[in-house]
Amino acid sequence: MRTRPLKVALLGCGVVGSEVARIMTTHADDLAARIGAPVELAGVAVRRPDKVRGGIDPSLITTDATALVKRGDIDVVVEVIGGIEPARTLITTAFEHGASVVSANKALLAQDGATLYASAQQHGQDLYYEAAVAGAIPLIRPLRESLAGDKINRVMGIVNGTTNFILDKMDSTGAGYQEALDEATALGYAEADPTADVEGFDAAAKAAILAGIAFHTRVRLDDVYREGMTEVTAADFASAKQMGCTIKLLAICERAADGGSVTARVHPAMIPLSHPLASVREAYNAVFVEAEAAGRLMFYGPGAGGSPTASAVLGDVVAVCRNRLNEATGPGESAYTQLPVSSMGEVVTRYHISLDVADKPGVLAQVATVFAEHGVSIDTVRQQGKDGEASLVVVTHRAPDAALSGTVEALRKLDTVRGVASIMRVEGE
Ligand SMILES: NC(=O)c1ccc[n+]([C@@H]2O[C@H](COP(=O)([O-])OP(=O)(O)OC[C@H]3O[C@@H](n4cnc5c(N)ncnc54)[C@H](OP(=O)(O)O)[C@@H]3O)[C@@H](O)[C@H]2O)c1
Repeated sequence: MRTRPLKVALLGCGVVGSEVARIMTTHADDLAARIGAPVELAGVAVRRPDKVRGGIDPSLITTDATALVKRGDIDVVVEVIGGIEPARTLITTAFEHGASVVSANKALLAQDGATLYASAQQHGQDLYYEAAVAGAIPLIRPLRESLAGDKINRVMGIVNGTTNFILDKMDSTGAGYQEALDEATALGYAEADPTADVEGFDAAAKAAILAGIAFHTRVRLDDVYREGMTEVTAADFASAKQMGCTIKLLAICERAADGGSVTARVHPAMIPLSHPLASVREAYNAVFVEAEAAGRLMFYGPGAGGSPTASAVLGDVVAVCRNRLNEATGPGESAYTQLPVSSMGEVVTRYHISLDVADKPGVLAQVATVFAEHGVSIDTVRQQGKDGEASLVVVTHRAPDAALSGTVEALRKLDTVRGVASIMRVEGE
């Protein structure tokens, strides 16, 4: 074994970084044996230097992250600060100064992964980011390496634990959104400002990363259609139950049937209880991959948390260190297909639409005509009347999203339609 240690600079020592430092220290001998050389924590950049950080040599702490990545003797920079800047500049500076990078930063990779990859390639360095999607779950490496010989057609997953916890509570207890969110906050599953999670921004960043890798093309955060889950109601869950479904916030990346384009989207959807994703409870994550030769694969586990995420980070550190000892680099960006990303209007799926209508003869025929005029074929209709008013639940066959939007717009104009109570896509059938 080589005795000269490989040097790791840690940028950020919060929820994830502190666990990376702890495991690096406590498992130093095992890591050295697996890599073939010792790894040494050479510096830790933070914002607040006076904060007590148990288990970390205080002499390693610095607030000058730039100086740390410019040192020139660093082999691997672990970026667990988060956000766009200064993380992006620190990562590219690290490449320029001869270090490889391991990052958990989904926001940055989804927004500007191409810049990072280009810089890594220009300077002959590695960029690894297993922890950026679905925490501890090995997913990026299986997609980038294990499935590199296959053709992936679809990636569909629950990639945000906070929203899964909230939806699971609504499903199992009948609670409304706010009540379930309050419980998630009290238990530490939701942040004080839950916007990034409940509005689907976090899942959209992960969808962009997954779509790019799965389809060997560039997909940015702006390409991902996004709807949050704050409008999901207890009534939606009741409707879902009647259909033998539950509701999940899904990230769905698909190759078009003709193979000429891809789509990436995040929105709440009904899925049958028989689908493997329906049984993903609490704050767990799971990603369902459909590949031409491999068939259907499911990846499941904890999608966040300091220690699970640090596990993924350290797996990358080991891989990058091994590459360095072999004077090699791992896979870089694979975007050779250059497939266009289609808009949401072109996505084809099924819909569950709940309408409040006047309870009088002819209404059903009127509504059915509007669907037919827009080329949306109806699978089932359920009507429930009460005091001159009725609720009509329509489930469609597969139709383009644009056709469904046109249908809903026309339905809203009918005198007999009092309101569109909810529209939800039905997936996983
Ligand atoms: N938490 C999770 O479960 C999880 C899961 C998957 C991925 N991730 C990703 O991992 C990354 C880190 O998340 P986290 O939860 O560990 O965040 P966090 O707890 O907020 O920690 C951020 C760390 O970065 C430091 N920092 C902030 N600005 C800095 C600057 N300008 N220079 C140097 N250090 C700076 C902070 O210093 P102080 O300690 O002095 O404040 C803190 O140590 C993010 O990209 C996140 O998306 C997190």
